[in-house]
Amino acid sequence: MTEKRRKWQIDGIVWDALRTQFNAAISAFIVTLFVMLGLRQLGMEPISAPVGTGLEISEATLILLGFTVIYLIFTSVFNYRQAARVKRALVSMIYQLKQYQRSGNYAPIHVTSKDELARLAGEMNTLTDNVERRMVALRRMANENAQLLREAEQGASLDERRKLARDLHDAVSQELFSISMSLSAIPKLMEKDPVKAKKLFHQIESMVHHTQQELRALIMHLRPVTLEGKPLALALASLFDELSVKQPDMTFEAQLDELPHLEKGVEENVFRAIQEGISNTLRHAAASTLTLTAAVSKDRLLLTLTDDGKGFDVDEVDQERTGNVGLAAMHERMNELGGHFTCIAIPGKGTRLEFRVPYIEKEKDVDSDGTD
Ligand SMILES: Nc1ncnc2c1ncn2[C@@H]1O[C@H](COP(=O)(O)OP(=O)(O)OP(=O)(O)O)[C@@H](O)[C@H]1O
Ligand SMILES: [Mg+2]
Repeated sequence: MTEKRRKWQIDGIVWDALRTQFNAAISAFIVTLFVMLGLRQLGMEPISAPVGTGLEISEATLILLGFTVIYLIFTSVFNYRQAARVKRALVSMIYQLKQYQRSGNYAPIHVTSKDELARLAGEMNTLTDNVERRMVALRRMANENAQLLREAEQGASLDERRKLARDLHDAVSQELFSISMSLSAIPKLMEKDPVKAKKLFHQIESMVHHTQQELRALIMHLRPVTLEGKPLALALASLFDELSVKQPDMTFEAQLDELPHLEKGVEENVFRAIQEGISNTLRHAAASTLTLTAAVSKDRLLLTLTDDGKGFDVDEVDQERTGNVGLAAMHERMNELGGHFTCIAIPGKGTRLEFRVPYIEKEKDVDSDGTD
């Protein structure tokens, strides 16, 4: 209703058209008047006053003025109609666009004339039509993406399960099998060669110890993958506390102090990478100490995980052949964050893993809710 009432008001482009019209008429009148005066000065009377009527130039001017007024009225009416038509069409377009913005409903605009206005309306109709079609395509894509994401998640957990089954088979089940084989040989060996039997007993003991380490490392992997809402420093500190309790024969030290506030996704990636590093130490290093330190600079965080275990030759690790993924996963995770992963291992001395993570310093109070 408001739109309807407003379109009859003489404002906007209707007022502009009338004002232009008025200006043009006044200008034409003044110019003609000057021309007439000029001609009169030159002795040429443009409109001769009828003899004896007493009509002077002022009367002629009055006639001119009369014509001007009549011309003004006619052209104003004509222009008003024209401008009002344009205005109606434009107001209708604005109204339709607003409707479209508010509710997504768009009724195509029909302009009967064959001018630019009709083309504009046509273009608008086509544009909204295209937007509508793209929206439908986007909605379809969003649905497909959600479906793909669900499938990827299922695939990922399936992969994790496969890896776990493989690890349980390779690391634990085979080890248990050889332990039971060795144990069954002990009674006979005790009778035949007690010294050898004692040696085998020690071997079995270390096998049991190793299996225990493997199981602990596997349990590490079964821990929740998220930080459960904890900040990274706290999650790492509590992980180290937990390890100290569960592995009393090893020393776990975490010197983290104040870590910068990282985005949640970044923190989770860093946590998973360090979890992988710890798992490797537990499985392969036979270390007595594992230390985690942090060095924070203006835009970079360096986390270092060091064990004093048996180390290994990094160049010897052939991940493609063995199908091991731990080291590669740590590399990938750091690359994804725009950071860098370095593994320095010295056989017989130990292993040091360095995780370099870039970050942008954020205002503390901005994301105190920890959501972004
Ligand atoms: N801290 C460590 N101490 C000693 N050896 C290690 C250490 N970390 C890794 N390794 C050696 O590097 C190899 C590759 O490690 P990686 O994590 O890629 O594979 P993995 O642990 O054997 O298997 P997974 O795919 O389950 O991680 C290991 O098999 C091990 O021999
Ligand atoms: Mg590993």
